This record gives sequence, structure tokens and C-alpha cells, in this order.
Amino acid sequence: MKDIDFYFFSGTGNTLLVVNKMRDIFEENGINVNLHKIEQSNPDEINLEHIIGIGFPVAVLSTYPFVWNFIKTLPDANGTDIFMVDTLAGLSGGIVGPLREIVKKKGYTPIGAMEIKMPPNIFFIQDEIINRIKVENGLKEAEEYAKNIINEKAEWGRVPILSDAINLFSMGALRLTGIDLHQKFFLFNLDKDRCNKCGICVGLCPTKNIKINDGEYPVHGLNCHYCLRCTSFCPKNAIPCKFNYKGKTYSAVKAKEFLKIKNL
Ligand SMILES: Cc1cc2nc3c(=O)[nH]c(=O)nc-3n(C[C@H](O)[C@H](O)[C@H](O)COP(=O)(O)O)c2cc1C
Repeated sequence: MKDIDFYFFSGTGNTLLVVNKMRDIFEENGINVNLHKIEQSNPDEINLEHIIGIGFPVAVLSTYPFVWNFIKTLPDANGTDIFMVDTLAGLSGGIVGPLREIVKKKGYTPIGAMEIKMPPNIFFIQDEIINRIKVENGLKEAEEYAKNIINEKAEWGRVPILSDAINLFSMGALRLTGIDLHQKFFLFNLDKDRCNKCGICVGLCPTKNIKINDGEYPVHGLNCHYCLRCTSFCPKNAIPCKFNYKGKTYSAVKAKEFLKIKNL
């Protein structure tokens, strides 16, 4: 099999774990894999001689606008193989079909799509044991899926109309994140008693939406996509998400796992 360039985004680590597991399986089978963070990748620089993988979390039945932007600006191809994987807490609907249409129109060959259940990172955060079991099960699915891609048994089907409608709804909902009023009511209120101005949130934000001036508190701008990295990885728990029951947070890995992956 050709080399794989695996482009991924992960807010709180679930997708990162799945992508790492799939990479391990590919590499055990002699396939070279290059990981790329979507938020640092330029679609114009994609090598169409390689197989393309795309991994991301589900958000509001679809995925984050900046992930869609990346996909929509992929270069036209002449049959390049492409596969996708997303992670979710339970329900999607607006991704697999619309994404397949986009990549087909661009000239790619869709070879596989898989949605893998992992622990929820929003609303109701479950306890550690349940999360661990969900992660274990999810990673087994990821392993199976990678093997199916290698053995050419993976598939990428399409449920028309319904998934397009869901996608439209989701994009509408997620675009609200850019509106000031919405941010004020639903987003994060920094807890200044807890925040020690370390700036980790600034480095983690995929849309560079958090700014910090010397000696001051970090400030969220208007381009938040709700990935929850800042909430989940704040070492002082100073950026609570209003949606999360009892202010609990979830992360599948440590913050440094995100900071250490650099695009080559
Ligand atoms: C803003 C937001 C919206 C979400 N919407 C959904 C959803 O519609 N359906 C679902 O099953 N999970 C949803 N989730 C849960 C995540 O998709 C799930 O926990 C995912 O595995 C997180 O991946 P990550 O850790 O790589 O960011 C949502 C999470 C967030 C933060």
C-alpha cells in the first residue's frame, strides 16, 4: 500500500487516540503514515500520490466549521484514495454522506468511512471507569477499521437528503459560535481566582482565538468553534464550560500530547 498522510483534528484527545491506534496498525503492516494536524495544514500542500486520511470529532451532529473548510479546500485529485474516521459520543448524521459527495466531486476515490463511539467530552462527563471501557472499545473498532482499509474491505456509503439536511442544520448552529451575544451567554467565563495566566490555553486553541498580553488574563475572541480544548486542558480548571454538568471536564490525553505533535 502507498504511504498515508493522515490529517486530523482532536479537541480533547479521543480522535487523537483513534488516529494513533490506526497509525500503529498501518505501520505494523509496513505502511508508512505521516500525521498532520488539520489546524496547521495547508490543503494546497497535500501530496496526491499518497492515500489521504481525515479524522475529526463530531460536533452538533456534524463537525467544526474549520474542519469543513479544510475538506472543502482540498485540491482536485485524479483518483487519489481517501478515507475518513470520526469520533462521537452517540449520534451524528451530517457527515459521512456530505463528505463523500465533496471528495468524490473533487476526484478522490472514497475507500472507507467509520464513526467510532468514544466518551462524551461535553454535557455529562462520565466516570473514569466507564470512560476507560469506552476508550478500549473504541480503539478496538479503530484497529478493525484500519485492518479493513488494508484488506480493501472498508466501505464509504451514503444516505442522501437526510444527512444533507442534518449537515445544513449543524452548520447553522455552529456558525452561531462566531456571534458575540452567543459567546457571552453560552461560552466560557474565565475564573480569575483560579487562572494563573500560564497561557497553555493560548497554545492549544486551534483557531488562535485566545489572546494573552503580558501579565494579563487570557481573553477569548469571537472565533470559538467549541472544541473544548481550553476547558479540558486548563491545569487550574479556570475555564469551565457552561454546558458541562457540575463543571466536570474530560480529556483523553495530557495537554502536552497536543503540543508535541508538529507537522513535518
Ligand atoms: C460542541 C460539541 C458538540 C458535540 N456534538 C456531538 C454530537 O452531535 N453527537 C455526538 O455523538 N457527540 C457530540 N459531541 C461529543 C464528541 O463528538 C465526542 O466526545 C468526541 O469523541 C470528542 O473527540 P475529541 O476528544 O477528539 O475532541 C460533541 C462535543 C462537543 C464539544
